[in-house]
Amino acid sequence: MRTAKVTGLLLTILGTCLLAATLSVTPTASQQRKTGPQLKKDRGLTEATLERKINQLLARMTLAEKLGQLQQLDGEANGNFRPEHLDLVRKGLLGSTLNVRGAARTNQLQRVAMNESRLKIPLLFGFDVIHGYRTVFPIPLGEAATWDPAAVEQSAAIAAKESRAAGVHWTFAPMVDIARDARWGRIAEGSGEDPFLGAAMARARVVGFQGADYSAEDKVVACAKHWVAYGAAEGGRDYNTTDLSERTLREVYLPPFKAAHDAGVGTFMSAFNDLNGVPTSANPFTLTAVLRGEWKFDGIVVSDYESVKELINHGLAANEKDAAAAGLNSGVDMEMVSRLYNKHGEELLKDRKLTVATINEAVRRILRIKFRLGLFEKPYADEASESNSIFTKQHLDAARATAARSVVLLKNEGDVLPLSKSLKSIAVVGPLADNQKDVIGSWTGDGKPEDAVTLLAGIKSKVSPQAVVRYAKGSEINDDTVSGFDEAVRIARDSDVVIVAVGESAEMSGEAASRTSLDLPGRQQDLLKALHATGKPVVVVLMNGRPLTINWAAETVPAILETWFAGTQAGNAIADVLFGEVNPGGKLPVTFPRSVGQVPLYYNHKNTGRPPDAKNKYTSKYLDVPWTPLFPFGYGLSYTKFKFTAPLLSAQRIRTDGRLTVTVEVENTGKRAGDEVVQLYIRDVAASVTRPVKELKGFQRITLQPGEKRRVQFTLGPEHLGFYNRTMKFMVEPGEFKVMVGANSQDLVEAKFDVTEAR
Ligand code: NOJ
Repeated sequence: MRTAKVTGLLLTILGTCLLAATLSVTPTASQQRKTGPQLKKDRGLTEATLERKINQLLARMTLAEKLGQLQQLDGEANGNFRPEHLDLVRKGLLGSTLNVRGAARTNQLQRVAMNESRLKIPLLFGFDVIHGYRTVFPIPLGEAATWDPAAVEQSAAIAAKESRAAGVHWTFAPMVDIARDARWGRIAEGSGEDPFLGAAMARARVVGFQGADYSAEDKVVACAKHWVAYGAAEGGRDYNTTDLSERTLREVYLPPFKAAHDAGVGTFMSAFNDLNGVPTSANPFTLTAVLRGEWKFDGIVVSDYESVKELINHGLAANEKDAAAAGLNSGVDMEMVSRLYNKHGEELLKDRKLTVATINEAVRRILRIKFRLGLFEKPYADEASESNSIFTKQHLDAARATAARSVVLLKNEGDVLPLSKSLKSIAVVGPLADNQKDVIGSWTGDGKPEDAVTLLAGIKSKVSPQAVVRYAKGSEINDDTVSGFDEAVRIARDSDVVIVAVGESAEMSGEAASRTSLDLPGRQQDLLKALHATGKPVVVVLMNGRPLTINWAAETVPAILETWFAGTQAGNAIADVLFGEVNPGGKLPVTFPRSVGQVPLYYNHKNTGRPPDAKNKYTSKYLDVPWTPLFPFGYGLSYTKFKFTAPLLSAQRIRTDGRLTVTVEVENTGKRAGDEVVQLYIRDVAASVTRPVKELKGFQRITLQPGEKRRVQFTLGPEHLGFYNRTMKFMVEPGEFKVMVGANSQDLVEAKFDVTEAR
C-alpha cells in the first residue's frame, strides 16, 4: 500500500513525574463509555421491569391512544398550554408538548393526564433550552470557544436544573450540527466546524443535561439535533438541500451525534434538510440503518417542526397520508406540530402502508423515555421550590465565568489590553454597548433581556468612582443612520480609550438567519473608522453569532475581542477580560474568512493536487483574495505568552492497532498567569483515500503561572488514526503520519511517526 518512511524524533524517555492529563476524547463507543458517566438505567425499575410495564400498557392502549402518544403540540408563545390541549390530554390523545413551561402550568396540564385520562400516561414537556433556561450562558458557538468541556457541562447542568424546576423534562439540545459555512445562521447554535471539538462539546452537554440518571429532579433528557447534515445546507441558506458523500457524512457530520449517543442521549431530532435526495425526516438510512441498526439507539426520534408534513414540499410524498407513512416507517417516532400520524394512521393501517408493529415500536420508545424520566412515579414539578432553583447567585457566577472563558482575544497590538482600572476617562460606543436584548443571543429559553448586564454597565461597575465613563450609541446595528457619529466622535476625543461594541443583532443568527455578507452590518465599520480617526486607542468588542469578515478592523485597530453573544452576565464577563481580572484564553471554534467568497473555508481541508503556491498561478487559490483565513481555527491570544517544545513521541513506530503518547512542554514566558489551549493535530500523509491536511485529535486548556512549565500528554490510538477506506470500512492504514502540536491550527510544531501492519 504505502512505503513507510522512518523519520522524526528519536524516542525520548520521559520522566515519571509527568504533570500530564491524557485526553481520551475519541469517536468510538467503547472508549467513550469508559470516560463519560453511564446513564444509570437501574433506578429501582430495572430495564426488564420497564419493558414489561411498557408491554402491559401497550396491550391496553387503543389505536387512537397509541397515535396520541406520537403527537407533540406547540404551546403558546408565553409558555402556556392551549385550551385544546386539555381536551386532547383528557382523551389520551397527546403525548407531549413543546414550549409549555413553568411548574404551575405544566402541573395543571399534567394533572389532567394523571387524573382524568384513561391510562394515566404522563405528558412529556419539551422546550428549546439551548444555552440556559433563565440564566443565559454564551451561545453554543461561544461556549465551544472555551475549549473547556467541563465548563460546558456545568452550563448544561445549570440549564437542566432550572428547566426541570420549571416543569420541563426534555431539552431540544444539544444542537451538534457541524457548520463549515458562516453564512448559515445556525452556526451560532452549534460548536463550529470541527468534528472532534464538536464531539467533545456534544458529550459535555449531554452529560450536563442528563447526568447519570435523568429521572433526577435537576436533570432533563437531551436531544441530539438535527439528524443529520443540516449544517451542510447549500449556499448556507437555512433549510436548503444537502448533498454529501457517505464518507464526509460519517467522518465530519456524524461524530458529534455519535458522541452524544455514546454519552447516553435519550432522544434525537430529525432535521428539515434533504440529504442526497432523501429528506432526513424520512431517511431510512440515517434513521434506521445507522441510528437503530449500527448504533442500537433505543430512545425517541422526534421530527423537527412540521418536518413530516414538509415531505410534501420536498416532493418525497404526494400527499399528507404518504408523508405520514414515510416519516413513521423511516423511524420518526414523534411528530412535532403537524398531525399527520394521527390523522392518517388508521387509514394507513387499513391500506397496509403501516403496520401495528411499527406504531407499537414508536410508542414503546416514547414510553421508555417517560419511564426513564421517572414521570410515572413523579409526574409533577415542585411549585414551591421552582423560584429558588432558578437564576441563583451561583448560576449567575457560573454564567459570568463561562462567558469570560469564551472570550477570544483576536488582536492586541502594543498591549493596549488589559486596561488600567485607574483610567480617568473611557468612551463606550456602539449599538451593542448598552444593549440588553441582543447580548443574550438567539434561543434564550426563558431568559429575559432585562436580566442582562450590558457592556456599559459592566465597565461602569469595574472602574474607579472618579473615572468618567461616557456613552454614545453611534449607530444602529443594521441601518444607514449616521446621525449618531458626531456625538460618538466627540466623546471619543474627550476620553483616554474608546471601547466600541459592534456586530450583529441576536436575530441575525440562529434559525432562518442566513446572510450572504459576513461584513459588519449597517454603518458600523464607518463608525469604527470615524472613531479610529480621532487617534485614540480603539478596542473593538465583537458581539455576533458567526465569523465576520472584519479585515479593516483586523488591520487597523489595536485591539479586538470576540465575545459572541455572551448571555445574562455578558457585560460583567467582558469587563473582567478588558480590565485583566480574567486573562482571555478562548480559541476560535471556527475559521474566520477574509471574504464571504472563500466560504466554505475550514482548516481540515484536503491538500488538492495543486496546493496554493503564491508563485504559481496554476494552483488552488483566488485571484483577488489570499487563500488563507483572516483568523484560523483554534486561534486566540492571551495577555501572556506561551512557548511550545517540539512534540516527543513514545515511539517512532506503532502497529495499526497500537497506541502512541505525544508529550509537549508548554511554558508561560510572560508576566501574567494565563490559559493556553494545547491543540494536537494529525495528518495521514498518504492513504488509499485522500486525507485532510490536518485533523484535530486532542486538546487541553491549561492554566500556567508566569514562568511555569507543564508537560501535556495525549494518547493517539486507532480511533484517532483511522478513517473510512474505499469500501467504507473504518481502519488504520500503515504509513507515515505527522503529528502537530501548538496554540492554533496554523502555528504548529511537528513530529513524524510510522504505522506498520498489525501482527
Ligand atoms: C425548529 C428548530 O429547527 C428546532 O431546532 C427546534 O428545536 C424546533 N423548531 C422547536 O422549537
